[in-house]
Amino acid sequence: SHRSLIAPSILSADFARLGEEINAVAGEGETRADWVHVDVMDAHFVPNLTLGLPVVKSLLKATDLPLDCHLMIEDPDHWAIGYAEAGAYNVTVHVEAASDPVMLAKNLHAAGAKAGLSVKPGTPLEDHLETLKHYDTLLVMSVEPGFGGQSFIPDVLDKVRTARRLVDTGHLNVIVEIDGGINADTIEQAAEAGVDCFVAGSAVYGAEDPGKAVAALRAQAAA
Ligand code: DX5
Ligand code: ZN
Repeated sequence: SHRSLIAPSILSADFARLGEEINAVAGEGETRADWVHVDVMDAHFVPNLTLGLPVVKSLLKATDLPLDCHLMIEDPDHWAIGYAEAGAYNVTVHVEAASDPVMLAKNLHAAGAKAGLSVKPGTPLEDHLETLKHYDTLLVMSVEPGFGGQSFIPDVLDKVRTARRLVDTGHLNVIVEIDGGINADTIEQAAEAGVDCFVAGSAVYGAEDPGKAVAALRAQAAA
């Protein structure tokens, strides 16, 4: 299959220096991230508050890396479109929060963005497999959304395997993405289960050299 994608999450970066922190993974070659993962939290859908559209608009001016916006918010049917219109590369909403995620995906596409669907660790995939073809990414959460630095939940790999099979047999254009607890100890099992895109927060921004951490994770995912 294609090359593994690495998406550092700026949730673990220094919020006073976000532009510089993104530049640390925007170099050349293997140290360059594929996407930058931006965790939007509203203190309602998850018990944490991070950043919203004004900050994303500034980040879009600060980098040419694609922004992968992960909306952990209530009422994404209302808010998600603003991120697409601003120029986010991919906008992912939670199936537990969206009232009509397929319609929302269509609206995101019309606004020029890619559209993702995310499931929390305890949310089954079965009810959504039928609609998978409407999305560009399926974001399988491997920790409870809300915070960086938590431990990987290996049980979610069953959902990754199910999605992988469906994407391959149906020749769907869907990137299987995993988010939470991805690091040197866990990335290989996720890759083996069929993940295409790996979000990593603390494993990248907790490292001394974030760019080197990106290169190392990508090499491990390909091994
Ligand atoms: C958690 C966020 C993740 C988080 C991952 O709710 O969605 O993107 O930044 O952080 P790590 O990689 O440290 O688990
Ligand atoms: Zn995330």
